[in-house]
Amino acid sequence: MPAPNIDTIVSLAKRRGFVFPSSEVYGGLGSAWDYGPLGVELCNNVKQSWWRWLVYERDDIEGVDSSIILNRMVWQYSGHEATFQDPLVDCRECKGRFRADKLQEAYRQETGDSKLLVSESQVPFRSDRIKCPDCGEINWTQVRYFNLMLRTKLGATAEEDDPAALAYLRPETAQGIFINYLNVQTAMRRKLPFGIAQVGKSFRNEITPGNFILRTREFEQMEMEYFVKPDAEHFQLVDEWVEGYLEWFVGLGLDRDNLQLYEVPEQEMAHYSKRTVDIMYRYFPERAEEERQWEELMGIAYRTDFDLRSHSSKPTDEEGKRVNPDSTEDLSYFDEATKQRFYPHVIEPAAGVNRTVLAVLMDAYSEKTNDKGETRVILKLSPQLSPIKAAILPLAKNKPEIVGMAKAIKRALQPVLRAVYDDTGGIGKLYARQDEIGTPFCITVDHQSLEDEAVTVRDRDTWEQERIKVSDLAEHLQKRLKPQPNVEAATS
Ligand code: GAP
Repeated sequence: MPAPNIDTIVSLAKRRGFVFPSSEVYGGLGSAWDYGPLGVELCNNVKQSWWRWLVYERDDIEGVDSSIILNRMVWQYSGHEATFQDPLVDCRECKGRFRADKLQEAYRQETGDSKLLVSESQVPFRSDRIKCPDCGEINWTQVRYFNLMLRTKLGATAEEDDPAALAYLRPETAQGIFINYLNVQTAMRRKLPFGIAQVGKSFRNEITPGNFILRTREFEQMEMEYFVKPDAEHFQLVDEWVEGYLEWFVGLGLDRDNLQLYEVPEQEMAHYSKRTVDIMYRYFPERAEEERQWEELMGIAYRTDFDLRSHSSKPTDEEGKRVNPDSTEDLSYFDEATKQRFYPHVIEPAAGVNRTVLAVLMDAYSEKTNDKGETRVILKLSPQLSPIKAAILPLAKNKPEIVGMAKAIKRALQPVLRAVYDDTGGIGKLYARQDEIGTPFCITVDHQSLEDEAVTVRDRDTWEQERIKVSDLAEHLQKRLKPQPNVEAATS
């Protein structure tokens, strides 16, 4: 049983130190969230699992970590300055602000009316029929485009309106990969096909952020650009990466039934894409099937040679003029086998850390009733993602020998796995707290432990207990913590 809705996770996340509303002491900052002690561990574990899978376990992918602020020309030639924008519309009655395309789509789904009134800004929007979702009135401003890139100014002496000082916080990590493509290919002596992976923060001035960490203005991406030849089977490669990611998500503990594929129609695709498949997660299980239960978890796009060509110095237009007179490099590739030079094509799986974390939390949520009839929350996280792997609990905190032994076990386990010592409550309370944060094992040290050098290991999911020798404990836990690949479930 996954979480019934996102709100259940919001309250668990705050109560147990995963995610807090940001800037709360000043009344918060709309749709910004801070990751607490357990949240930062969970995020790190997701990122490590991704990095291990792509950069370590495969032999054809390298990692990079590029700057968040890049030369402004990167965004001119990537097309983001001109096209990375959303249509925005305001309600004149209640001053509510919305995305015109989202309102139009919701209206079309609800009424079946697919007639389009095209506004002056060329955005199809039935401004004569669509009601404001907040106040119910029909009194809209003109639809206007709004660029989503967050602006900043570089340099201490920059004048307020000095265009030379204008810079952007990156809206995707991908461009930092493209501008480093040649550096990586040359330094690591790579031949096609190969990929470059990057994980890091991105920023978008979203018009309607919301739904907890699903849509925020600051978020983290895990992106990989896979460079292939122009005659590769690009659409088939998209399918292969979709399958690979489904398997990875199922391995992280997501139920395959809560994942769905969405073949993005042409009119919804980004300017660089020839084909995009989104992996959707059921973030809104409380909604009816015909309403929108699903939201994008990640996208896999075939970006053609658009980006490497755009950032290259050589390509010319029909009149023979250089398309990019500012670039100093040609990012083409010379294929030794065919003696041909070309711009590599790109398959891009782009995933969000925060959306993965939310999906993982929702799917891990479960409730169980104990013998006293009390309902307990158990977070059945895949052990590889659990912020804490083992909690060492002394049965009697006023017995120095028991406390000493428990603390020694904690110190001995720490080099191999994340362990904590806790004596801040009765054993029932301590178990419940660890269940709620997804700790797979509780280790209890009792009076008998002092005699037989053994401890009780309690399993989070079954509540079963077994007695294990302290000398065997690290190996026993490590064995049980190993990720269990669930290939069958991913492809069924
Ligand atoms: N380079 C391609 C790209 O950025 P995208 O579909 O715009 O593609 C990729 O973003 C992923 O980044 C999304 O599937 C989502 O997981 C995450 N993402 C995008 N915008 C986000 C936001 N405002 N808040 C949280 N995550 C976001």
